[in-house]
This record gives sequence, structure tokens and C-alpha cells, in this order.
Amino acid sequence: MSELYIGLMSGTSLDGIDAGLVEFDGEEIKLLAFDYSPFSDEIKEAIQALSHPNSPILLKEYGSIDTRLGCLFAQACKKLLKKANVPSSKIKAIGSHGQTIYHAPEKPSAFSLQIGDPNIIAEETGITTIADFRRRDIAAGGQGAPLVPAFHKAIFSQTFDLAKKNITIVNIGGIANITYLSIDKTIGFDTGPGNTLMDYWIQKNLNIAYDKDGAWAKTGKADPALLQSLTQDPYFSLSLPKSTGKEYFSASWLNEKIQLSHACNANDIQASLCYLTAETITAAIKKHAPLTDHTLICGGGMHNSHLIVLIRKNLNHPVSSTAEFGINPDHVEAMAFAWLARQTMNNLSGNLTEVTGAKQAVILGGVYPGLNGLN
Ligand SMILES: Nc1ncnc2c1ncn2[C@@H]1O[C@H](COP(=O)(O)OP(=O)(O)OP(=O)(O)O)[C@@H](O)[C@H]1O
Ligand SMILES: [Mg+2]
Repeated sequence: MSELYIGLMSGTSLDGIDAGLVEFDGEEIKLLAFDYSPFSDEIKEAIQALSHPNSPILLKEYGSIDTRLGCLFAQACKKLLKKANVPSSKIKAIGSHGQTIYHAPEKPSAFSLQIGDPNIIAEETGITTIADFRRRDIAAGGQGAPLVPAFHKAIFSQTFDLAKKNITIVNIGGIANITYLSIDKTIGFDTGPGNTLMDYWIQKNLNIAYDKDGAWAKTGKADPALLQSLTQDPYFSLSLPKSTGKEYFSASWLNEKIQLSHACNANDIQASLCYLTAETITAAIKKHAPLTDHTLICGGGMHNSHLIVLIRKNLNHPVSSTAEFGINPDHVEAMAFAWLARQTMNNLSGNLTEVTGAKQAVILGGVYPGLNGLN
């Protein structure tokens, strides 16, 4: 008997909400429908203000954004179901990642905060909702991130014979993360900035949300002094497990490096940021996954053709979009949270201890029962 789940993802890029309707039939995983709801500038700015590392957070403001996001997530589910022409009663559960406001996995007071009230999602849709996936892994001593490698393993080990081929999946969202899969080893970690710094810089200078196809970066020349200062950041040489967020690779992080290196041409800085993303991803693959035979790329960064050219130049094995293997690069993360919700509903763990560093595999998330209980 097949089961339907919804996965909701709104990542650090703050572009909007991805909603995927996923069918699970035994081991088979199939995306039936997908919908994307962009964030308005207003909600994007409110989240940005709230998640700023030095934000003097007003609890009232925090609570109201949590509620508003919960409503937006619920609407995104309803829109998806309408598009797919599937009644909510057919959905076993929703996995909602939530909007990350802060990710600080450093011990002893590690925490990671995702908001978008799941009570509202469950109440509005009537569907059991799983949310707050990261904190149980952190409670078990892990980084709480990345969580997608377990899903990457489940789905790509169906497409690739890992006994014959070692693959690395790179997700280029706000932050970039990689998953290395071989027959006897899985590795996963955040490599550092994906699109976040490029998005910030083009927004600040040209008032544009992102550098389409890396066209602006392409007009510049990477600044060697700036690049040196960027790539020498200690995060890049930290040992595993590791994860990071926008609170570390922030505007002030970048502005400090710009000042130190005296870089001044805005497009050269953009070129350097694009180079930084490519360089840190490929250096991570070479260092931690040197036996990779094939790299697959997903996430919004896959659309940045200039970035992909730079990544290809640095690697001497094939680099493809996940689309070449039947999965649209924009759909992977939402599918992962549908899969993680299913793990939880089936009392199965969702974290990979070898990835997050948790003491043990744990069932992730809080469960918010739908109108008919847990179905
Ligand atoms: N055509 C394009 N050219 C360049 N960059 C693009 C293009 N399309 C999307 N992007 C980039 O992709 C980003 C969105 O990617 P995505 O939705 O995967 O990130 P995310 O929501 O932060 O997810 P994650 O959870 O992985 O961090 C945009 O902010 C933009 O920087
Ligand atoms: Mg996104």
C-alpha cells in the first residue's frame, strides 16, 4: 500500500516555501506534485531582522512571525493539494522543516531554532504534522545538521549501484552541504556558504534578490587578497562533524574580510564570492570524499551556470544536475522532509550518527496530531 506525505522546506535563502507531495511505495519514492510559494519582501525582511545575529529580539515580534509562518506553511500545503487534486484525508503526515532563525550547534549550549507554528499547520490542514527535526539530534549530542544525507542515501542508492560507483551529492542552498555515498561509508556536512553571500552582496549593491546565472559575478574578476582572506576562515579546515549557518557566514563576516583585503569593485567581490562557494565545495570533496566518481548537484545554486562551470573546472570527474537522474534539483529538499516525516511516523530514526555526530540514531521531530489523531 502506498502512502502519501508532504514535505515543506523554506531554507536559509529566504526565497520562499517549497512543498512536495511524495508517494512512498515500499522502497520506491516518487514526487507526485510540487508547488513553490515565494515569500513577500515584507515577510522576508521580518525574518531577516529576527535572525540577525545581533537582533534585539522582541518576543512579541518573534511570536507573531512564528504564527504567520505557520499560516503560510498551512496555505502552501493547501495550494499543493489543490494543484494535485488530492484530498487532505489521503495524506499520512506533513514534514515541516520550518524557517531557521538561528543554528548554533557548538556545545555546551547548542541549539537550532526553526519556526512556523506546526500547531497551525496541523489545525488548518487537519493533517498530522512533524516539525522541529533538528533539536532531538542536538539533544543526542549531534550537530542537528545536515539531515538530508539519510534521504540522499535512501533515494540515490536506488539509482546508483554504490558497489560500483561512489557519489557525492551537493546541495547548494543558502548554505551548501555535501553527502558522500559509497558502499561502506556515508559522510555529510555543511561546506560553508552556498548562495547566501552572493545573494546578500547583489541585493546590497544592485537591489536584486539573486545573481541570475551568475551573470554579474561573471563580469568581475576574483580578487586574490579577498579570496585568500575568505578561504582562510577556520570553519573550512574544521574537522567533521560540522554544520553552519547564516549567523556565521553573515554580512558582517563578509564586510570585515572586504575591509581587511581592501577589495573595492563590487562585481569583483561578487566574482570572489562565487569562486568562494565553488572552491570550498570542491576542496571539501577533494579532502573528505576523494574517491568520488560522480558529483550530483541540487538546490537553487544548480541554476547558477557560472558557479557550476567553476565547480566543474575544479573536479576531474563528471558533475551533473540531479535532474539527469530524474530528480529536479529544486525538489530534493522538500522530498527529504516528506521522507523524514515518514521515518518518524514509522518510529524510525532520521539522523545518521556518522554525519551529525550524535551519540545514537534517534526518531526526529515533534508530532502534532491531525484532526483524526495520528491516522
Ligand atoms: N537562475 C539562478 N541563477 C543563480 N542563482 C539562482 C538561480 N535560481 C536560484 N538561484 C539561487 O538559489 C537560491 C535558492 O535556493 P534554494 O531554495 O535551494 O535555497 P534554500 O531555500 O536556502 O535551501 P537550503 O535549505 O538548502 O538552504 C536563491 O536565493 C538564489 O541564490
Ligand atoms: Mg528555497
